[in-house]
Amino acid sequence: MTSRFATARACSNIALIKYWGNRDNALRLPANPSISFNLATLYTETTVSIEGGERDGVELDGAPATGDAARRVTEHLDLLWGANRPHARVRSHNNFPMGAGIASSAAAFAALTVAACAAMGHQHAEAALSALARRGSGSASRSVPGGYVAWRDESAYSIASAEHWPLVDVIGVVSAGHKKVGSTEGHALAPTSPLQAARVADAARRFEACQRAVAQRDFAHLADLIEEDALMMHGVMMTSTPSLMYFLPGTMAILHEIRALRERGVEVAFTIDAGPNVHCICAPAAVPAVEAALRGLDGVRDVLTSGIGGPAQVIAQAAG
Ligand code: PMV
Repeated sequence: MTSRFATARACSNIALIKYWGNRDNALRLPANPSISFNLATLYTETTVSIEGGERDGVELDGAPATGDAARRVTEHLDLLWGANRPHARVRSHNNFPMGAGIASSAAAFAALTVAACAAMGHQHAEAALSALARRGSGSASRSVPGGYVAWRDESAYSIASAEHWPLVDVIGVVSAGHKKVGSTEGHALAPTSPLQAARVADAARRFEACQRAVAQRDFAHLADLIEEDALMMHGVMMTSTPSLMYFLPGTMAILHEIRALRERGVEVAFTIDAGPNVHCICAPAAVPAVEAALRGLDGVRDVLTSGIGGPAQVIAQAAG
């Protein structure tokens, strides 16, 4: 039998308004709405082949996956294809440096969802694919649509194209190490912080204000909002039980540098995911100054730059 396969590409995304905590952990329904944009130059390509083997084979960046990573892929295929499914060979490749400490689960589960559905001949609308990707990793729901993306409930949707406001993400890589506490575990800890209820109660305001700032291309408002939002999320993380402290000294150095640049009129603001690296969101004209400033700091190991990317898509396919 000729194997059936499909290859999909999905971009990573960076949240401007963060998702932290679930109102339903099993279904990965978020405690609060979030907004992100896709990162054009940081993407995952995943090929899913239906080969009729004895078991699933999962390869990540050229090496066989084991443990938790392999289990999450297998469980996601169960969800996508149902219990009586054929076995599959899954090969996934990140185009960004392995171990750069850049979250890859969003791109990974968006690409896996789109490739697996295409390989099986399942035709789903974008909203259904986003809802399926969400079950693998919440933020993966936002890597299915393109450009600026909002996510409140079951699925995420585009709110503006990349061309509407071509901002850039300049990432200061402080540590390439694997984080000790992953986000699945972290979301479950969010309610242990007394600050989470206040963060969630105010989330609709930040979400609406961010949507307005994007619609009006209002950098000054966006800058204040995204920094406030990221610091609120890290406040929750730091005050959870156990406490999650993702900041390193290099993280703090970048935050001060970004604030100093903004005071000098450079259009740049920071946001930080569940890790020590800092995403510096900036206007295109600010990119050279931001890159140079980051490279000049002790503790910054690498600088990665990305514009805004499009939706997840099938890039190759064959029906056996
Ligand atoms: O999708 P997850 O479970 O990896 O959670 C991602 C959470 C953050 O990256 C910290 C915030 C966000 O909204 O992307």
